[in-house]
Amino acid sequence: MRLAGKVALITGGTSGIGRATAVLFAREGARVAITGRDEVRGRVALHDIKGAGSEGIFVRADVRSADDCRRTVDETLKAFKKIDVLFNNAGVFFPHTVPDCPEDEWDQTIDVNLKGTYLMSKCVLPHMIAQGSGVIVNNSSGWGLAGGDAAAAYCASKGGVVLLTKAMAIDHGRQGIRVNCVCPGDVETPMLPEDAKQRGLSWEEYVKGAANRPLGRIGRPEEIARAVLFLASEDASFMTGSSLVVDGGGTAD
Ligand SMILES: NC(=O)c1ccc[n+]([C@@H]2O[C@H](COP(=O)([O-])OP(=O)(O)OC[C@H]3O[C@@H](n4cnc5c(N)ncnc54)[C@H](OP(=O)(O)O)[C@@H]3O)[C@@H](O)[C@H]2O)c1
Repeated sequence: MRLAGKVALITGGTSGIGRATAVLFAREGARVAITGRDEVRGRVALHDIKGAGSEGIFVRADVRSADDCRRTVDETLKAFKKIDVLFNNAGVFFPHTVPDCPEDEWDQTIDVNLKGTYLMSKCVLPHMIAQGSGVIVNNSSGWGLAGGDAAAAYCASKGGVVLLTKAMAIDHGRQGIRVNCVCPGDVETPMLPEDAKQRGLSWEEYVKGAANRPLGRIGRPEEIARAVLFLASEDASFMTGSSLVVDGGGTAD
C-alpha cells in the first residue's frame, strides 16, 4: 500500500500504460481520477479501478483544452479534496518524417504530448503548492532521449517533455514538489498495432523489429506502471528532474 491515503490524477487513463498505472495505483491504496476522450473505455477502466479495491472517477476530457483540464482538476478536488500525484500520460503517435508529416498531425502531436502536459500541470500545481507537497510524473519516451525513424513530431514532443520535467523540477522543488519522467521503450498497447499498420508492417514483423534490444522483447504496460509507482511513491523521495528509462535496454547502445 505505497500510495495509501493518496489521490492520483492520470491523464490517458483509459488505455495502455495509463490504465495499467491507474489499476496499480488503486491496488496500492490511492483514489484515482482518470481522463480520456472515450467514455466507454473510461467506464471500463473505472470498473477495473474499483475492482482493484479503491475509489475512482472518470472525467471525459481532452488535454489539449485548458477548459477541460481545469474542469478535470475541479471534479477531482470535488470528489477527493486534494491531488497528491499527477501522471501526465496522455499521448499520440504518428509515424512521419518531417517532409511527410501533415501539419495537423504535427500540431496534434505537440498539443497532446507536450502542451497537454503543460496545461494539466498548470491547473494542478497551484493546489500542490498550497498543500506544500505533490509529485508529478510525465510520460516521455526512449524517443525523448534518442531519435527514432519516421517519428519527427513525436521525438520533438517527447524531448520537450524531458526538459519540461527538468524545468518544473527546478521551479517547484523548494515548494515540496517532485517532478520526474519515465521513458518507456516499445510497450504492447493499442499505440503499437496502430503504428505497425501505418508503417505497412504486419504485427509479427513489427514486434520482431521492436524486440531487437538487449532484453529481446517489447514491454508490458504493467512494467511501466511499476516504474511510475516508484517515482510517485516515497521510495523516490530524493529524485526530481530525472528521466527513468524503462526500455529493455533499447537506448543502451
Ligand atoms: N506504447 C509504447 O510503446 C510507448 C512507448 C513510449 C512512450 N509511450 C507513451 O505512453 C503514453 C501512453 O501511451 P500508450 O502506449 O498507453 O497508448 P494508448 O493505449 O493509445 O493510450 C493513449 C492514451 O492517451 C489518451 N489520449 C490521447 N489523446 C488524448 C487527448 N487529446 N486528450 C486526452 N487523452 C488523450 C487516450 O485516451 P482516449 O483515446 O480515451 O482519449 C489513451 O488513454 C503516451 O504518452 C505514449 O507516448 C508509449
